[in-house]
Amino acid sequence: MNQNELKQLVGQEAAKYVENNTVVGLGTGSTVKYLVDALGKRVQEEGLSIVGVPTSERTAEQARGLGITIKDVDEVDHIDLTIDGADQIDKNFQGIKGGGAAHLWEKIVAINSRKNMWIVDESKMADELGSFPLPLEVIPYGSTQLLKRLADRGYNPEFRMNGSEHVLTDSKNYVIDLHLGHIDDPHALAKDLDSMTGVVEHGLFLDLVNIVIVGHDDGPEVLNA
Ligand code: A5P
Repeated sequence: MNQNELKQLVGQEAAKYVENNTVVGLGTGSTVKYLVDALGKRVQEEGLSIVGVPTSERTAEQARGLGITIKDVDEVDHIDLTIDGADQIDKNFQGIKGGGAAHLWEKIVAINSRKNMWIVDESKMADELGSFPLPLEVIPYGSTQLLKRLADRGYNPEFRMNGSEHVLTDSKNYVIDLHLGHIDDPHALAKDLDSMTGVVEHGLFLDLVNIVIVGHDDGPEVLNA
């Protein structure tokens, strides 16, 4: 199977975990797209009744188009289960997210969920984090000075651009990617980034996930974190 087929495999597998009359956080990205397709099918064919809490405008639009009821994170009492993709997961189930510039909303939904599931193709699993660049969502005001402060710390920062334009998040912020190579201590790095004025949120998702479904050629593997 190619990478897209593995993403489809785990997206469809994860949809089986969604129970009737629950509130489901819907992540963002090419893997979650398959999940949302499969959930839309269950809604249409089985009459599955769920409320989806999307983590991006993209996911909201897709879900709405498939007839899934959508509510904002502030409109629901609780979220039973959030299913999302990830860019990299280490052997301790710590993750990097934000390759699609959605990690701020994704983290807000994740920390407000009773359970979190990540769905990934096997290429996302790694011994340690850092070969995937770590995304930061940053306030545009003062972001060039922030970039310099990040460079001074040796974090190899780079604005995420689309041609000559800054990539904008759904909250209209900029993205800076840190090219770290490897991350020795994810918790220490998270603490440092949390302390930096202008950083709205970083893409380290630590001690958050409960279940990971990994797509392999011979089928989905379910890991309990
Ligand atoms: C969005 O910003 C990300 O956190 C995605 O969840 C992550 O990049 C996984 O995306 P893919 O499923 O497209 O690989």
